[in-house]
Amino acid sequence: MPEGLSPRTRYYYRFRVGSWTSPTGRTRTSPAAGDASGSLRFAAVSCQAYHDGYFTALRHLAQEGDVDAVLHLGDYLYEYAVDAHGGDRADPSLELPDRFNKETVTLEDYRLRYSLYHRDPDLQAAHAAHPWIVTWDDHEVENNYADEIPDGSPPEAFLARRAAAYRAYYENLPLRPPQQPSGSSLQLYRRLHFGKLAQLDILDGRQHRDDQSAGDGWQVPTAETGRPDRTMLGTTQERWLEDGWKNSKAVWNLVPQQTVLSRRRNRTTGPFPLSMDAWDGYPAARRRFLEAARTAGVKNLAVLTGDVHVHYAMDIKEDFDDSGSRSVGVELVTTSVASGGDGVAKPGDWQTFLDANPHMKFYDGRRGYVLLTLDQRQLRADYRTVDVVTRPGAPVTTAASFVSRAGDPGLQPL
Ligand SMILES: [Fe+2]
Repeated sequence: MPEGLSPRTRYYYRFRVGSWTSPTGRTRTSPAAGDASGSLRFAAVSCQAYHDGYFTALRHLAQEGDVDAVLHLGDYLYEYAVDAHGGDRADPSLELPDRFNKETVTLEDYRLRYSLYHRDPDLQAAHAAHPWIVTWDDHEVENNYADEIPDGSPPEAFLARRAAAYRAYYENLPLRPPQQPSGSSLQLYRRLHFGKLAQLDILDGRQHRDDQSAGDGWQVPTAETGRPDRTMLGTTQERWLEDGWKNSKAVWNLVPQQTVLSRRRNRTTGPFPLSMDAWDGYPAARRRFLEAARTAGVKNLAVLTGDVHVHYAMDIKEDFDDSGSRSVGVELVTTSVASGGDGVAKPGDWQTFLDANPHMKFYDGRRGYVLLTLDQRQLRADYRTVDVVTRPGAPVTTAASFVSRAGDPGLQPL
């Protein structure tokens, strides 16, 4: 690991192995401890289903200036089969061998899948342009698994599959030596400081969670859903987060993580089904999360989320059952890079979601990423979108921008 780097400085690097030399990458170090000057810029991305389309959003992200770090919020790859022409990419110049046309299960499968993704020129460009900070969601292993419980694969073989997937993740993504996996476990949650402007508590909401209740999917919560001991993060991670918040001196506390924290209803009259895979399926865990932020005195909380393949901008309410209750933070949900294929700005449930969730300020169903710019006074979110991913080259536009002022949580449109 390089030592003695200067804070807030651009560096260029290459890798050499034998006679091979990699293209040049560019990175940037974080501000020095205590430095609250200037601004920081992060990009949030998630959900790169190669077989659903081109990573055009990442090509545009590579061209964004002064990004301090790209935050990948999960589904870096998908375990599903990819056919010879790359699924919906339908790329006639691609002739993938049959071994890609099956779900990933073994270590070799997962390694090959990373090699396929890492040959994508748009993904390469985004890695070469900016440093990345990653966390995972489910598809790096298997759809909607929970801790040691698989979603569809045989339970007795699942831990071997998880071990293979975690090892390949560690081998292929920018993690640090303490995160080296041990068997089927990997220490993923961690804390990073960007001077005094931002503390990032990067969560793992997949490896330590209880199983989804009520049969997963969108369901009306059951008694089990409401059980007070249900956990999303596990006790150890919950305590670690609370301690980190208590000791935080940062102006902004950012929480890059996987699944939607805020309440989401998909209808305006009850009974209300909720997403059992998201924090809505773990209401006691969400209460503890918000209570921990409150008792720690976190003033500027921004939760960054992926998973749902749409953009949302939401205020985090102290009590989601009371739309008049105060906002205690903001949640910025980034859409997918490619998962879901070509999207539309207003999906069929667009109006219903906005009506059913008054704390939701914005919803867009296209592909893209979120750019965050923050300083001592405010956090700004720009929702970047591309219209098409089933063919390359779509331009990028900013669909909406919001700010939340320091000390006054809540999103205001720009
Ligand atoms: Fe996804």
